[in-house]
Amino acid sequence: MAQEQAPNLECTAEAFRRYCETARNDNAPLYEQMAGRIREDPELLEIAAHARSDRPTAYLFFDAVQYLVLGGTDHEVARYYPSVTEDALPAAFAYPVFRDFCRKNADLLRYLVANHNNQTNEVGRMSAMLPVIGEAARRGGGKPIGIVEVGPSAGLNLIFDRYLFDYGRTVWGDMDSSVRVVCRLEDDRLPPLEKGIPNVAYRIGLDIEPIDLSSDDSARWMLSSTWADHRDLSLMQHQAIEVLRQDPPQIVQGDALQVGEVLKDVPMDLTLVVYQSFMLMYLTPEDRERFLAVLAEESRRRPVYFVSMLGAGIGGGTRRAKVDLHSWVDGRYEVQQMVEGHSHGRSIKWVAGATA
Ligand SMILES: C[S@@+](CC[C@H](N)C(=O)[O-])C[C@H]1O[C@@H](n2cnc3c(N)ncnc32)[C@H](O)[C@@H]1O
Repeated sequence: MAQEQAPNLECTAEAFRRYCETARNDNAPLYEQMAGRIREDPELLEIAAHARSDRPTAYLFFDAVQYLVLGGTDHEVARYYPSVTEDALPAAFAYPVFRDFCRKNADLLRYLVANHNNQTNEVGRMSAMLPVIGEAARRGGGKPIGIVEVGPSAGLNLIFDRYLFDYGRTVWGDMDSSVRVVCRLEDDRLPPLEKGIPNVAYRIGLDIEPIDLSSDDSARWMLSSTWADHRDLSLMQHQAIEVLRQDPPQIVQGDALQVGEVLKDVPMDLTLVVYQSFMLMYLTPEDRERFLAVLAEESRRRPVYFVSMLGAGIGGGTRRAKVDLHSWVDGRYEVQQMVEGHSHGRSIKWVAGATA
């Protein structure tokens, strides 16, 4: 038995080593410190190793622990979690307490990591996508837009027009919103959103495994994926869930390749804007081509704009992303990178040339 587990624990330890590095780069001292210690702790590695081998073990383990903390606990571990404690105790002293909590809840944690997946829906990403959606609307003639998000997860980014976006030098969106998405501009260029957030007249999502936020348990699991160190983001995600619950957007369950069925329902008098963030990477290269071919097919009926946010490696120590605008207009296909920035949209740079 011990022999069978050894390779598995080695892989698990490696997952925590990589996680530790990512947490360091993303300024998450609690998760950095815990991951650094877990990788040398066979007892906690054994618990984490119950995750399916095709799933992100270390992420799932931290999700599972935070899921229990968010559920409310008398254990001292909560005092180290910035997501639930305003002046959290220093991460450097957390490990013995964290370890004790994990050992006391070992069976529950084994169950959670074995039966769940890491499910994220990052509201911050809209600060990178929004100016590009605005550009698509502008190219479409300034009409109201019909939006189709592919891979929207819980749908938090389908209601971006109910949030306030704060780029430091300017703000856009719903000034009364309880959700304030803060984004730093990496240079002095303002993205061209002079007309503010486009008017969204129709919205729909398509996801292979949508999350239903009307369930408190699903909402808690999803919140547990926001890193505990990032208290401001946890609070923002929490607020966004409340806003969504007041009027949830429609999300159809299905594969991205079925997007043609969803496009048919978008009224023809609107500018059609399809978008995705961190979904395309789940498709094979062949299926990505097929997906783009469905959009090209739709462009025989009307112009199609597709805003696509994908990872762009590591830069300056953090995970980067880029946002491209694909367009099919009057039989002509073009693709142009418009934005680059932090993968969760914490900072962005408008890289498109002049937008005539
Ligand atoms: C990493 S999450 C990103 C969620 C959201 N777009 C965001 O940026 O916060 C990826 C989402 O894509 C969905 N997904 C994965 N493969 C898919 C497919 N073949 N068709 C539709 N959705 C898919 C997943 O269910 C999940 O909700």
